[in-house]
Amino acid sequence: MLKTLSTVKITWVGAGSMAEAMIRGLVDGRKAPGENLSAINRSNAEQLAEFRDRYGIFTANDPEASDRYIREADILVLAMKPKDAAVALRRLRYQVDGRQQIVSVIAGLSIATIQSLLGRPLAIARTMPNTSSTIGLGATGISFSREMDEPSRDLILQMFKSFGEVAQVDEEQLDIVTGVSGSGPAYVYYLMEAMIEGGIRGGLTAEAARRLTVQTVLGAAQMVIATEENPGELRRKVTSPGGTTQAAIETLDSCHFAEGVTSAVLRAAERAREMGAELARSAQES
Ligand SMILES: NC(=O)c1ccc[n+]([C@@H]2O[C@H](COP(=O)([O-])OP(=O)(O)OC[C@H]3O[C@@H](n4cnc5c(N)ncnc54)[C@H](OP(=O)(O)O)[C@@H]3O)[C@@H](O)[C@H]2O)c1
Repeated sequence: MLKTLSTVKITWVGAGSMAEAMIRGLVDGRKAPGENLSAINRSNAEQLAEFRDRYGIFTANDPEASDRYIREADILVLAMKPKDAAVALRRLRYQVDGRQQIVSVIAGLSIATIQSLLGRPLAIARTMPNTSSTIGLGATGISFSREMDEPSRDLILQMFKSFGEVAQVDEEQLDIVTGVSGSGPAYVYYLMEAMIEGGIRGGLTAEAARRLTVQTVLGAAQMVIATEENPGELRRKVTSPGGTTQAAIETLDSCHFAEGVTSAVLRAAERAREMGAELARSAQES
C-alpha cells in the first residue's frame, strides 16, 4: 500500500530530459518535496549536480548509493533510452524486491518484456509521455499491469497529472497514443513551419510570420479548451461561405490535408508497433 504523493519516495533510474520533466513538475508544482526524490544515472556527474542544485533532490551514480536509492524507493521510474533498457533492467532484477511500484517511460518496451527482464511479474505502469511534458503541458497515455493495485494507480496518475493531461488506456492502445500525442507535437510544428512560410511568401518578415503563427496555434488550442466545443464546430463557425477561410480550407482539401494527417497518426502507431516488436526481440536476445 502506497503513501501520498507528498510522502512517497521516488527514484528515477536515468536522469535525462524525461526524468527532469517529471521531477520539475513534482518539485516546482509543490506536489512532492525534493528530499523524497532521487535520481541515478550511468556516468554523467555534471547532470546529477544540476538536478541536485535545481530541485534539491538526492542523486548518485556510485554503486552503493544507487543501490540504496533503488531499494528505498516506493516508486521506481525507468527513464533510460530503449537501447539501454535491457542492460539496466537485468541489473535491477537483483535490487527490486516486489515492494517498489515500477513506472516506465521507455517508448515501445512492453509490460511483458519489462517483467521478463526484471525476472518476475511485478506491478508495472507503462506510460507514453510527450516532449511538452518538459514545460508542464504534456499529454501522457498510461497503462497498468494487472498486478498494480488501485491506490498505486491513483498515485501514479496524480504524478503524471503534475505535468499535463493523462489518459488511462489499454496497453495495446499506447501505440495509437504514440500516433496522436507522442509524435503529435511534430505535426503541429510542421503545420506551423508551413504557415510561417506562407506568411513570408506573402510579404511578412520572418519574425512577424513566426509570432502571428505561434499565437494563432496557442489561441486555437485555448479556444477548444475554453469553449469546450469540438474543433470541427469551431472551424465551421469561422468559415463564412465564399470567404477567405473557406477558400483556404478548399485548398487544404484539394491537397488531402485531413486525410494526410489521419494517415500520419495511423502510420506512427504502426511504426510504434513495429519498433516495440523489434525492441522485445533484441531485449530477449541481448
Ligand atoms: N524526451 C522525451 O520527450 C520523451 C518522450 C516520451 C518518452 N521518452 C522516453 O524517455 C526515456 C528517456 O528519454 P530521455 O530523452 O530522457 O533520454 P536521455 O536524456 O538520453 O537520458 C537517458 C538517461 O538514462 C541514463 N542511463 C542509461 N543507461 C543507464 C543505466 N544502465 N543505469 C542508469 N541510468 C542509465 C543516462 O545516464 P548517462 O547520461 O550517465 O549515460 C541518462 O541519464 C526514453 O526511453 C524515451 O523513449 C522520452
